[in-house]
Amino acid sequence: MSTEQEQETQPQAGVTRYVVRTLMGLEPQVVSELEEYGAVEVELGRRSAAFGATKTVLYRYLQSTRFAVRVLRPIFEFKAKGPDALHATAVQLDWGRWVDPRRSMALDVTVNSEDFPHDQFAMFRLKDALSDHFKSFARGGSVSHLDINRTNPEQLIHLHIAGDQVTISLDLIGKEALFKRGYRAPRARAPLNEVLTAGLLGLAGWRPGETLVDPMCGSGTFAIEAGLWTAGVPIHAGRREWTLFGMPSFDADLWRTVGEEARKERIERAPILASDWNKHPVGDARESVRKAGLEHLVRVEVADFLEMRPPRDTEPGLVVLNPPYGQRVHADDLEHLYGGIGGALKHRWSGWRAALLFPKDLDAQHRIGLKPRVKHTVMNGPLTCTWAVYDLFKGKRADYLAGDERAGHGVEGSAAEGAATDPGSEEGETVRFRRPRVQVPKDED
Ligand SMILES: C[S@@+](CC[C@H](N)C(=O)[O-])C[C@H]1O[C@@H](n2cnc3c(N)ncnc32)[C@H](O)[C@@H]1O
Repeated sequence: MSTEQEQETQPQAGVTRYVVRTLMGLEPQVVSELEEYGAVEVELGRRSAAFGATKTVLYRYLQSTRFAVRVLRPIFEFKAKGPDALHATAVQLDWGRWVDPRRSMALDVTVNSEDFPHDQFAMFRLKDALSDHFKSFARGGSVSHLDINRTNPEQLIHLHIAGDQVTISLDLIGKEALFKRGYRAPRARAPLNEVLTAGLLGLAGWRPGETLVDPMCGSGTFAIEAGLWTAGVPIHAGRREWTLFGMPSFDADLWRTVGEEARKERIERAPILASDWNKHPVGDARESVRKAGLEHLVRVEVADFLEMRPPRDTEPGLVVLNPPYGQRVHADDLEHLYGGIGGALKHRWSGWRAALLFPKDLDAQHRIGLKPRVKHTVMNGPLTCTWAVYDLFKGKRADYLAGDERAGHGVEGSAAEGAATDPGSEEGETVRFRRPRVQVPKDED
């Protein structure tokens, strides 16, 4: 982008446009978070949002964002019809202002254009243009060979083509996307993505201060994300290897000042409880809680959810469940497990809210037997999943809804239904749901 073009896209003094990438379903939370940090002219996109920010606002946002996966700085925008036209323009751009040819780099491409039938070819032509540029046009002498490193690049360049519109962006983060928070135990099996987890907490309406119970915690992602959120620490302030830090425009003093200004008040306690019936993930979760510096906020225990009662020493809040869904569990056992979960929620957890994550096409979901107040569709890796949120109440659903409406809390969504306990069921009474045949794993791996 020439200086003139850049000025056109920066209408406010000191404000630069950026693009944040996120996961499907989390876009509205990204927008609120951007606005909370002072971003301007925020525009919602598909798995993304564009925004304007001063350097201070950008640094605050980058140090603390929970819902962003990557943040990009668009550097060049132009039109090209086909790979050769792309090369012809790209070779003449002022790359030296943004890219250091002596540092390793990787290119990433997204194409939606009939002019560019092969994504990879468009990417190769851009790489050729970069290489030709630094051989012939570069200020301060030519560079004969670019260090392309796809696994561990110091600089990551994104090529985005829609029709004949080409946008080239520099990834401010680089190799380690923002879901890598640094607390994950290396042995953790099938953990949820950290960005997705924070987003799921937000979608279920959880906010710091509310009780959170994750009784099938695995490596503890829900509890740790909730703990970090409660602690209010700038979760990315300690990062050392972002592309941003090698950019000529990076202001190390400002970065440090922004980090120091972030919340200093130490929260001493939080009602966040995680448990699992398998002691191995419990060990991993405890290790991650320690790494994240959250031992004072998050408690982790060994317990079978189907035997568990709500904690008595806290207010009712949100129970989050990410149960196993198949690969290691037989279909019959899944039916029993999901039936057991529904029964336990219905009979023991009235007064709480619950949220369950399961694959959209999972047959066993019907065994839960509760009607969600609202359902969200999210991607858990390649798997389309439902995040179903339930209000667990005693008595008749009609009475609950009438009370809820009187209280001014309308029930959202077309799938809006609540969950009632059987009339007459009491705390401590014999629970009548069928116990699943899934056994507590012994000392498996
Ligand atoms: C898909 S994993 C949860 C992953 C977790 N959300 C994370 O990010 O690491 C499901 C977990 O449920 C646990 N589990 C299955 N049945 C259980 C039960 N009845 N009570 C407690 N935990 C159970 C398993 O041991 C497993 O760790």
